[in-house]
Amino acid sequence: MDIPSELIQLLRKKPRTAVLTGAGISAESGIPTFREAQTGLWARYQPEDLATPAAFERSPRLVWEWYAWRRELVAKASPNAGHYALAALESRLDEYCLITQNVDGLHARAGSRCVLELHGSLQRVKCSRCHAATDGEDIPDWQTIAAAHPEEIPPRCPSCGAALRPDVVWFGESLPGAAFQAAWQAAETCQMFLSIGTSALVQPAASLPLIALQQGAVVVEINPSATPLTPQVTYSLMGPSGAVLPDLVNQAFPAVAGTSLQN
Ligand code: OAD
Repeated sequence: MDIPSELIQLLRKKPRTAVLTGAGISAESGIPTFREAQTGLWARYQPEDLATPAAFERSPRLVWEWYAWRRELVAKASPNAGHYALAALESRLDEYCLITQNVDGLHARAGSRCVLELHGSLQRVKCSRCHAATDGEDIPDWQTIAAAHPEEIPPRCPSCGAALRPDVVWFGESLPGAAFQAAWQAAETCQMFLSIGTSALVQPAASLPLIALQQGAVVVEINPSATPLTPQVTYSLMGPSGAVLPDLVNQAFPAVAGTSLQN
């Protein structure tokens, strides 16, 4: 993709940069976005029917198994060129912060170091009761617990015996405080903000690019489709992030021969 030359020049000045990603950046890794139809076994369920405290209360086994299915899906997936391009961009900038709404862990697997997981992670679980269940520390040995008691689905908390639950933010729940504070501050202080692969519909994450715009940052959207944010951004790069991001990073920071990012 031909990136506007002013944007390339801006990026070469190494601005303080914040990035917000959504499910779209993982689409080219084969992971369905949130608003795509669920596939196969789970086709008859909507995420809104499963990703809520009430759903877990009502059918803990069903919700646990849905997340186990998503964990397997992610384990078989690999980061794509878009994830790697962001890791390369982080290595070329002095001040950079990646904020993601995704729970698939692909940014870290691609080498991103500063990753703020606003909606938690599929790889972590926490207790549904103790450990200050909202912002609780995760249960690191939960796979051992599950293997020792395969009949117990969901597995039980080693401390209080209550059901373990995925450490992800469910509809109606608050975001992890520390991650959200850091993300809010990054949006308030950045000079460039990239909004990538998100429908910009779900609050409070959808406010982050608007905060950046209001304080005078250059805001760039990367998405093959228009979103409510598109009319307000400084640059709209219409295309799949797995192609646009490598072009953006390679054109701004031409790699030495042989190490350029592949689409
Ligand atoms: P959505 O499914 O709402 O939006 C995905 C976006 O990715 C859409 O705008 C697509 O156009 C775009 N997209 C699709 N393929 C793409 C590609 N190859 N490259 C770039 N973009 C692409 O997912 P999110 O915006 O992430 O919250 O949804 C935000 C939150 O809504 C999720 O984190 C989840 C959901 O409720 C919670 O679970 C709390």
